[in-house]
Amino acid sequence: MPESPLELLDQIEASALSALGAVEAEDSLEAWRVAHLGRSSPLMGVFDRLGGLPKEERPAIGRRANEVKRLLESALAERAALLRQQALERTLLGERLDVTLPGRARPRGRLHISNQTLRQIYRIFAEMGFQVYRSRDVETDEYNFQLLNFPPHHPAREMQDSYYIDTGTERGDNPVLLRTHTSPGQIRAMRELAALNPDNPPAVRLILPGMCYRYEQISARYEIQFTQVEGLAIGEHITFGDLKGTINDFGRRVFGQGVRTRFRASHFPFTEPSAEVDFECFLCNGAGCPVCKYTGWLEIMGCGMVHPVVLQNGGYDPARYTGFAFGMGPERLTMLRHRIEDIRYFWANDLRFLEQF
Ligand code: PHE
Repeated sequence: MPESPLELLDQIEASALSALGAVEAEDSLEAWRVAHLGRSSPLMGVFDRLGGLPKEERPAIGRRANEVKRLLESALAERAALLRQQALERTLLGERLDVTLPGRARPRGRLHISNQTLRQIYRIFAEMGFQVYRSRDVETDEYNFQLLNFPPHHPAREMQDSYYIDTGTERGDNPVLLRTHTSPGQIRAMRELAALNPDNPPAVRLILPGMCYRYEQISARYEIQFTQVEGLAIGEHITFGDLKGTINDFGRRVFGQGVRTRFRASHFPFTEPSAEVDFECFLCNGAGCPVCKYTGWLEIMGCGMVHPVVLQNGGYDPARYTGFAFGMGPERLTMLRHRIEDIRYFWANDLRFLEQF
């Protein structure tokens, strides 16, 4: 036991300070405060007993007790500040942000190569005044064939077998199928426009893009789906010369100013006369190379003057209106330009292919 109250205060001070030095966490400081400065702490006991001391001892002991109290209070404040600082340094260190690290690149998507080609085609025809018309992928035999002048069982259907949709009803000669070309959109567009003014249908200048489907043996050259872009122009004095001019202009814009074109007689039930269009090979300029199979020419599209029966079916009087139509395959165009040797890459979803464009 300490001999005097002053010795007791020395002891209280020493043990409180050493206990404070052992406090390592900010939230343990309150327990220390209660133990050493609280109502029932030894220090407060000294204050409580002050009144019972001889009068002449009181001032010195009181002064010393107050001194210890202030000392402990300021030691507590210092310790609290120190612990707060250390905690801050720990979080700063632990959550350090290195602004010199290079950023993480976000993977960005892009347009499929077929859509890139399609958009280029839209741009070229837009400059010539053609608007985009979207027609449906699921068609009836009537629109896909009959209204385009393919009667049932006509041999021209042979090249365009499709996928038939089971509608649960007997539809006879008019089954529902996936369109085999964009040409049925010709009838839909003409009928929609003719309905606006049946006695005076407006002139037509449209391109009709979209997915087409054919029942094919899949190979490097044939897929069961592919896109097409159809063109359709109808008016009062449209001639085969307009068709040639439009296609020649298109060819120059895609393959360059000097490119030559060649129209070969062909047959489609919905055009008359009909032609296949070849563009001079852009790689060898007509000299012959593997891309053009040493012919100097690339087969790009089918075309012709809209057949009178088709005009009639669309609501346009063939005695008054004429028009031209053409159809091409953007994948084929893309394959030629990028020397892609297998059409199956287009829909195989292989990023090694898609990321090259
Ligand atoms: N629809 C034809 C096909 O898919 C292409 C074509 C369109 C031909 C328009 C002439 C006019 O083969």
